[in-house]
Amino acid sequence: MAIVSVVSRPFQDQKPGTSGLRKKVKVFQQSHYLENFVQSVFNSLPTDSIGSTLVVGGDGRYYNDVATRIIIKMAAAHGFAKVIVGHNGILSTPAVSCVIRKNKAYGGIILSASHNPGGVDGDFGIKYNIANGGPAPEKITDEVFRISKEITSYKISDVADDKVEITQLGSYKIEGMQVEVIDSVADYAQMLQELFDFDAIRQMFASGFNIRFDSMSAVSGPYATEIVEKQLGATKGSVVNNIPLPDFGGLHPDPNPVNAEDLIKIMYANNAPDFGAASDGDADRNMVVGKSLAVAPSDSLAILAANAKLVPGYKSGLAGVARSMPTSTAVDRVAKELGIPCFETPTGWKFFGNLLDADMATLCGEESYGTGSNHIREKDGVWAIIFWLNILAVTKKSVNQLVEEHWDKYGRNFYSRHDYEAINSELANKLMASLREKITALSGKAFGQYIVDVADDFSYTDPVDNSVSKQQGIRIIFTNGSRIVFRLSGTGTEGATLRVYLEKYEADKTKFKQDTQDALKELIDIAEEVAQIKSYTGMSEPTVVT
Ligand code: G1P
Ligand code: ZN
Repeated sequence: MAIVSVVSRPFQDQKPGTSGLRKKVKVFQQSHYLENFVQSVFNSLPTDSIGSTLVVGGDGRYYNDVATRIIIKMAAAHGFAKVIVGHNGILSTPAVSCVIRKNKAYGGIILSASHNPGGVDGDFGIKYNIANGGPAPEKITDEVFRISKEITSYKISDVADDKVEITQLGSYKIEGMQVEVIDSVADYAQMLQELFDFDAIRQMFASGFNIRFDSMSAVSGPYATEIVEKQLGATKGSVVNNIPLPDFGGLHPDPNPVNAEDLIKIMYANNAPDFGAASDGDADRNMVVGKSLAVAPSDSLAILAANAKLVPGYKSGLAGVARSMPTSTAVDRVAKELGIPCFETPTGWKFFGNLLDADMATLCGEESYGTGSNHIREKDGVWAIIFWLNILAVTKKSVNQLVEEHWDKYGRNFYSRHDYEAINSELANKLMASLREKITALSGKAFGQYIVDVADDFSYTDPVDNSVSKQQGIRIIFTNGSRIVFRLSGTGTEGATLRVYLEKYEADKTKFKQDTQDALKELIDIAEEVAQIKSYTGMSEPTVVT
């Protein structure tokens, strides 16, 4: 066993996006590709990383095991004292964040492409998280990218792959570095027990409440089976598709009504269970579904914020809330009522880290089915679902009742996202450039009854470290509070994806039952008129509407 230096050549395309580096599996399988990126991460770390602990785990997708072993061998060559790795290389993204914090690790590496499809022809991803358990901020990811463009060698232990044991729990050494293979679920489950009233939820299940939790053959399976079925007592079989598969069994584990079609069908049928839930590839996203009602993620965030005090972990109230810019302003209304600040950040969980660390925000969320809190520094799918169950157990209300009562009190923010996927990148960039040119002239312009109040390209100054992130999406805000937002996705691996976010506030109770797309019709037309999406993309309709 020895540490060797391997000569490689730099790749120019290793720029981390909204959430780490994501590419096709085939790209990661190129010689030295993964190793170069990992070495770039290690080279970006200060020398105090030598002798420290690193956490490694992923969502079990294709290439997870291969990459895990490579990273362990490289960590040994970098001089880490210890690597904590999930059993079989498996840890959900929230579990990595939890384990980093619990063990005061230096950081962690997450192997996941989140909700992107898996399998040999699917996507793979790698993300570096820092000591607070959250995604590395842009100043680190920028530095990693810079290094990756110049790197010409990496260091790795030449230990045989079959000596890098990840299938047995326990501890052993490689090049003097300790490798500890841990149960993927235990630490995470314990954390949830400390936050939520498990007894109250257990009683609810014991009295006949039923749930369907669709893990979509992704990593939430073992977590939900242990926590929801074994610890909280939901009927065996309540968690479906609960074995993480390298290709997610061909499912697209993105918990929205389009991709979690099966769950929606069951929840909208007669005799639907009381509660439907789904989560994504790495279990940081969640969808909550009542009987014939898929809860909009922005509403879910607002409802959790409004009811947080009912849950033991949040009983003393919230310091503040935060949402990504495109997320609806439903939570802003709750914050106003509670008299707490509401922060608006760019898209991507990394922007919540500083607010959580500084205790300026306690709950955070994104319209993309992501909700989380200061318990870790990632969004957390299973946590959000248990949060809902805790509120239902305490209030003895149904999902539908809670949502409808929330609308009655605060009004309803009709919300939808229209995605135009896999469009030619050049055309997508042109569309955005032309929008940027148009926005200044939009101010004050009337589109029927919609009058533009503010039109800008969102720029964010982090209130903690004053770092500035520019060009985070075109916002058109109308005088009646309605909004249209345009931005390009930063997580795709094929061409570009244009996201159009539409929001309309409605205070009139008689209109709450309208169909969302009907309620947003005029805004959809204004978006087309302003951005000329059809003529730029050649697409007559979005590919996904959520
Ligand atoms: C998408 C979501 C964003 C989320 C990210 C990672 O990023 O829109 O809210 O933080 O995935 O899960 P996007 O593809 O829009 O850049
Ligand atoms: Zn995810």
